[in-house]
Amino acid sequence: MTRGRFISFEGGEGAGKSTQVKRLAARLQTATREVVLTREPGGSPGAESIRDLVLRGDADRWSPVTETLLMYASRRDHIERVIRPALARGAWVICDRFADSTRAYQGAAGGTDPGLISALERFILEDVRPDLTLVFDLPAETGLARANARAGAEMRFESKGLAFHERLREGFRAIAAAEPGRCALIDAAVDMDIVETAVWQTVTRRLHPDD
Ligand code: TMP
Repeated sequence: MTRGRFISFEGGEGAGKSTQVKRLAARLQTATREVVLTREPGGSPGAESIRDLVLRGDADRWSPVTETLLMYASRRDHIERVIRPALARGAWVICDRFADSTRAYQGAAGGTDPGLISALERFILEDVRPDLTLVFDLPAETGLARANARAGAEMRFESKGLAFHERLREGFRAIAAAEPGRCALIDAAVDMDIVETAVWQTVTRRLHPDD
């Protein structure tokens, strides 16, 4: 059995990732290919419990370092129970956010030492790394306006202010620029059907799902 493929979607708030992960999963699913659609923080029962802790409450409920540790505790559970077994049985895993969100939110925007984040990546992710990461890019104001329009209980990060979200965008763009072999920057400010086409062209060009 060949190992499956691992695709992550990344970007700031209101970028439209949740719509596009579902559209990509529907396109990739075939009679012979299993697709596992999942998300972070969360994706396993334990990790979903940590999600509730970290996404609810006041903006300053947790410091960036504590958030980093909570994200990595939830990520480890998700990897052990969902992602690694799925890849081992040959499934394609599509994850709405993964480790780059910690680099961008807690690192670039939150100020957590990049050395701590790199060490966690090494010890906690081990060999579980995305084959392809689609980084959704749009102006921070546009994304925040979209995110605030669908307001709910999980608003800790949306409430952090424009300067935070501008650092976040630059953080994601820097990740995409530093790792062009793994990452593709997707213009998320355009119509969703155009975004869907851009995602599909990138996935087919990079991972050849029809081979
Ligand atoms: P989402 O489901 O709307 O994408 O929300 C998840 C939130 O969690 C989003 O505001 C980004 C934040 N987040 C981090 O700050 N660090 C992380 O490592 C992950 C996975 C998410």
